[in-house]
Amino acid sequence: MSDFKNVCVVNHPLCCHNLSIIRNKETSAEVFRNAIRRITYLLFYKATEELELEAIKIETPLEVCEGKTLKRNKEIIIAPILRAGLIFSDVANEIMPFATVRHIGMYRDEDTLTPVWYYNKIPVEVEHPEDKIILILDPMLATGNSAIDSIKLFTNKKVPQENIRFISLISAPEGLRKVQDAFPNVKIITASIDNCLNEQGYIRPGLGDAGDRIFNTVEN
Ligand code: URA
Repeated sequence: MSDFKNVCVVNHPLCCHNLSIIRNKETSAEVFRNAIRRITYLLFYKATEELELEAIKIETPLEVCEGKTLKRNKEIIIAPILRAGLIFSDVANEIMPFATVRHIGMYRDEDTLTPVWYYNKIPVEVEHPEDKIILILDPMLATGNSAIDSIKLFTNKKVPQENIRFISLISAPEGLRKVQDAFPNVKIITASIDNCLNEQGYIRPGLGDAGDRIFNTVEN
């Protein structure tokens, strides 16, 4: 945990190493994407450590033994915020192939720094909201505005805050404070809490525009 209640910073040496690769402005899009994928495994290790298990019996080629399997009483929903969140959802889907993926389409209005919706695959009615585990994915938690809007999508449908995790690569203290004030029981998992936001709402030192660097659309 960090100084923020309910914010877990995964500062594993491999996270730190790969973060340095993606922060470097000279890093190519291909190397950038691969380094993020490596960090994603480590973030998900933390984000999923409270999933419940149940005992099963397994017959190995040698004998019957006790094993453990994930309890299927809860539906796991992976919710990447387009477009940068897609970099996390490939890995998330690979390690949890049974999960549901519900995309959230939001971009940031560069003048007001507020999120603008254009797509949302969340059902109008969420049945048994208490039985959902939501993993919202966005590499950059900057102002916190899109994080708050995306969390609201689920809390408005009665999903308990305790069942929601927000997963980011890099977070700004300003955004973390805002999200935690609005949703104190949503757990945030991040690889770094950086220094601050600049006037354009970019995280410093950060890594620039994550979506542009992932999809190689950086304009010079
Ligand atoms: N979004 C980004 O891609 N980068 C930032 O620094 C802030 C928001």
